[in-house]
Amino acid sequence: IRQLVKQRRPRGFPPGPSPIPVIGNIMSLATEPHVFMKKQSEIHGQIFSLDLGGYSAVVLNGYDAIRECLYHQGDVFSDRPSLPLFMKMTKMGGLLNAKFGNGWIEHRQLASNSFRYFGSFQKPLDQKILEECMFFVDAIDEHKGKPFNPKHLVTNAVSNITNLIIFGERFTYDNCDFQHMIEIFSENVELAVSGWAFLYNAFPWIEYLPFGKHQKLFRNAAKVYNFLEQIIRRFSEGRVCNFPRHYIDDYLNKLDKSAGDLGTPYSRENLIYSVGELIIAGTETTTNTLRWAMLYMALYPNIQEKVHKELDSVLGSGQSPSLADKKRMPYVEAVLHEVLRFCNIVPLGIFRATTQDTLVSGYNIPKGTMVITNLYSVHFDEKYWCDPGTFSPHRFLDSNGHFVRREAFLPFSLGKRHCLGEHLARMEMFLFFTTMLQRFHLQFPPGTVPSLTPKLGMTLQPLPYSICAVRRQQ
Ligand code: HEM
Repeated sequence: IRQLVKQRRPRGFPPGPSPIPVIGNIMSLATEPHVFMKKQSEIHGQIFSLDLGGYSAVVLNGYDAIRECLYHQGDVFSDRPSLPLFMKMTKMGGLLNAKFGNGWIEHRQLASNSFRYFGSFQKPLDQKILEECMFFVDAIDEHKGKPFNPKHLVTNAVSNITNLIIFGERFTYDNCDFQHMIEIFSENVELAVSGWAFLYNAFPWIEYLPFGKHQKLFRNAAKVYNFLEQIIRRFSEGRVCNFPRHYIDDYLNKLDKSAGDLGTPYSRENLIYSVGELIIAGTETTTNTLRWAMLYMALYPNIQEKVHKELDSVLGSGQSPSLADKKRMPYVEAVLHEVLRFCNIVPLGIFRATTQDTLVSGYNIPKGTMVITNLYSVHFDEKYWCDPGTFSPHRFLDSNGHFVRREAFLPFSLGKRHCLGEHLARMEMFLFFTTMLQRFHLQFPPGTVPSLTPKLGMTLQPLPYSICAVRRQQ
């Protein structure tokens, strides 16, 4: 067995921690895999490898290694690994998990055109986000300063922005069917990096075991796809060719136009996958960022006070924030950047794979190798950040209080597959955060301080907490 395990690492492949026979290093990923990987990089170097049972993965750590691969070798590091789990979920089609090639290009282009078109053609997207912000703060107000868990409210409000683009409509905050779909979908985001998921990727035959968390993952996925199929059908009723109302219409028009073309990547199935991916990629991430931001504001009242001061000095009384104010709010920008750096919403990015054999830092990495981008290690890279373990918005400000961009800041990743929704997410975070803090002071219920330990998954989110949003005197 020893010999077999040794052979799994090809010649010239990056070194890594010793694997346990059969299951390799999978067990080491059970708790805080991003932290484990950063520690391993201190032993084996910025580029090292892990044995994940039946296959190996290369882990990239620190800003220099990630820039070298994702940016300087952009074409090489832009694929997604054909893991059994992803093959089962989306057959490597759709958008986020699509193989690098024509299908991915077409789906990415269609989605980014929809974001631009359905955002700016009818009514500027920031105006629509502001309308949602008002529903959001009014719903918070209903708690009258009493403790509440903001998770569902933030999720509903944030998902409504992608709903507008995809379906042309927002869903009310009491739409239980949609909420249930998001809930089990985000449970899958968590399960996708559980030990069971890694085991399934190494030993796909465990599909036939009657137990295991992977079974839950499959059941959730079936329910989500079923739900999406139904609402896609409902929202495509009344479609008129050449007059798309939203992303669904746009996609179906493309599908119609490509009828008869055998090589087309457009299909009803890929539409369901892309809609699901856009909903979850857009909701889970932005929601978690805002939930962390609320938590840190209540935890650090002095930082919150500075945010309030800036809001009050830039906005007149009764004047809602707008995107145009962003330039005049460097402190708010610094706070949101520090939340993204410190909280590491997507700590390991989304798994990549190589499109061809390549050489990096003297190591041979064959075509089709799975690549893990440890974005957490970029944000805690001592070469680029002073005292990275401290939450300090000031690192994004110069001595005059002006906002400064930092190179080793990659919450949206880098290269050809970098986050498609970055622009949208930035607008949402700014508008939701400023609208909320303009109206409320956030504080924990007396005598309580919530845990800062994240809940593990593809994304890091705070454990459920209660908070009081008390109306401010203005
Ligand atoms: C991909 C982060 C919001 C859509 C990604 C990736 C990261 C990320 C790290 C992986 C890129 C890679 O492969 O290296 C975030 C964060 C967000 C956010 C931190 C919010 C704070 C959004 C929003 C949307 C979105 C609002 C759209 C509605 C996508 C899509 C991909 C992606 C479609 C896959 C891109 C591709 O494979 O070509 N995001 N994201 N994201 N994100 Fe986001």
